[in-house]
Amino acid sequence: LAASFGKPVLRGLKVVVSAGPTYEDIDPVRFIGNRSSGRMGFAVAEAAAQAGAEVTLVAGPVSLATPQGVGRRVDVRSAAQMRDAVVDATAGADIYIAAAAVGDYRPAQVADHKLKKHDGAALELSLAENPDILATLAAQTVRPFLVGFAAETHDVERYARDKLKRKGLDMIAANQVGGGLGFEAADNALTLYGPEGAIELPRASKTELAHQLVARIAERYQAVRG
Ligand code: CTP
Ligand code: CA
Repeated sequence: LAASFGKPVLRGLKVVVSAGPTYEDIDPVRFIGNRSSGRMGFAVAEAAAQAGAEVTLVAGPVSLATPQGVGRRVDVRSAAQMRDAVVDATAGADIYIAAAAVGDYRPAQVADHKLKKHDGAALELSLAENPDILATLAAQTVRPFLVGFAAETHDVERYARDKLKRKGLDMIAANQVGGGLGFEAADNALTLYGPEGAIELPRASKTELAHQLVARIAERYQAVRG
């Protein structure tokens, strides 16, 4: 780890990082969100900047300051807004790291007035699937090196390998959620899967893990694109 700190392994490269949750509005006062704090993604953006990259951070609704060295930050709210911002920011970029917890569904209709209760009757929300941002990028003929995340509660390796293949990614960082790790936690532990096999990054702070992840991404990027 110490060996990767401060080394400009991404110098001259344009890196886009997405981070945080998305919020999908139900009406003017309510939304569907998730428990992502954005800390892992922000740590990755900071580590990439420290490695010499020109970093654009696309952030969902989080309460975090922009890390030192990050050149541009674009704040978004919904998955559709995040997709548009990421497609825009990745034009001409070398690497996209998808650390955001993108909401899979949004309310099929957004009410323009606050929904009211109706005498104890159940409320049914109809949900529509959101666009898959990584799959959108993977389908482009000219595409950045793509790194996904997979946060899973069970069968981590199977789901992660499936996402690597299905989404056409270059690398995926998988983590088990729960037990003091992952969402809303200070620590994390990752396993990286790529065509070259698996690499374990054992439990550590998100800052430390972000540096290790960036070092591995830089190695792999140089091997296939450098
Ligand atoms: N992702 C994305 N666009 C989406 C959903 C997810 O780009 N609409 C990205 C995430 O940023 C992450 C990766 O895909 O890097 C995996 O996200 P995940 O939620 O684990 O995968 P899904 O394909 O949504 O599958 P599921 O939630 O059903 O496990
Ligand atoms: Ca999902």
